[in-house]
Amino acid sequence: MKQKEIEKGNILFVGIDLGTSRSSISASNGAREWIESYVGWPKDFIAMQVVGKPVLFGEEALKHRLSLDLCRPLEHGVIKEGIEKSEDAVKEIIRHLIELAKPAPDQKIYAVVGVPADTLKVNKLAIRKAVSESVHSLMVVSEPFSVAYGLNLLNNAVVIDIGAGTTDLCIMHGTIPTEEDQKTILTAGDYIDEQLYSYLIEKYPNSKFNKNMVRQFKEKFSFVRDIPGEIRVEIPVDGKPVMHDVTNEVKRACESILPALVETTTEMIARFDPEFQVKIKSNIVLAGGGSLIKGIREYLHDALKEYGPCNVTCVEDPLFAGSNGALKLAQDMPEKYWEPL
Ligand SMILES: Nc1ncnc2c1ncn2[C@@H]1O[C@H](COP(=O)(O)OP(=O)(O)OP(=O)(O)O)[C@@H](O)[C@H]1O
Ligand SMILES: [Mg+2]
Repeated sequence: MKQKEIEKGNILFVGIDLGTSRSSISASNGAREWIESYVGWPKDFIAMQVVGKPVLFGEEALKHRLSLDLCRPLEHGVIKEGIEKSEDAVKEIIRHLIELAKPAPDQKIYAVVGVPADTLKVNKLAIRKAVSESVHSLMVVSEPFSVAYGLNLLNNAVVIDIGAGTTDLCIMHGTIPTEEDQKTILTAGDYIDEQLYSYLIEKYPNSKFNKNMVRQFKEKFSFVRDIPGEIRVEIPVDGKPVMHDVTNEVKRACESILPALVETTTEMIARFDPEFQVKIKSNIVLAGGGSLIKGIREYLHDALKEYGPCNVTCVEDPLFAGSNGALKLAQDMPEKYWEPL
């Protein structure tokens, strides 16, 4: 049945990475698109006239935030249970991403959706409900698993996905990972932003900046350990732009996620017998936006090598690694795993 539909080109396979800060889609027609995971609805009919659309996404939504009811549905990794707005926002994000992939009018959509490991545990149902209107068949998987699948890391590997809301770890040992093989910690990109924001307020109480600016400083200059020179950014003081030294604050904020990262990685690997431990440690892969922090790969490598040789690498394309993996999964998956909707 499915084979015939594929031959007729009637199925569009899509992989969707539903993230706290960014969501992306990879489709079998070659489309690759992403948006920031913000959804906004005009607050009233004046706002509606100002923005000119019933719903806005990503950067555009942020730009008009004063006119909108703004929602970032996966903040803290889970759809806030019982909050209809979050479910609606997820629904809109999925619908919009699929639209961006431009399916042909009569094409059926087969979607594999990767979500943070904790979201999967807590409310798979809510996700399914939110997605069901836009797709014909569905499988929901954890984000690090889809990254691992995309990279063909099916055996003896650990994927560490450092996102915005959560850092998700997943050990692959030759089967579909179970709950035991996955772990989520809450120190990730948003946490770094909060730390950096509070350090900067403490150091420069008279300067004017907001969390969005702080996140941009971080994304431009993030590092752990040492870098040559200093980091200076422009921030207004009494309306005038002034250069500020933020080197130490950026370093401290980025380094704040390291202890939990090393501890959790070590703990997860330690569950396996020594022979496997050696193999797993030769295949540690960093993914997600946090893998772009300068020096984090080297730091983790040095911290883990205390317990024997290891090899840490970063994925090439952190923005699409999750959705590309989900797409590959969608194309490879036998019929019986699909849930028809
Ligand atoms: N160069 C960079 N250095 C440090 N952090 C970065 C950099 N680029 C992006 N980030 C951070 O990475 C995070 C986004 O990563 P990613 O898109 O993997 O997260 P997500 O999938 O939306 O979140 P989650 O997986 O938690 O749901 C944000 O916190 C962003 O600020
Ligand atoms: Mg992610």
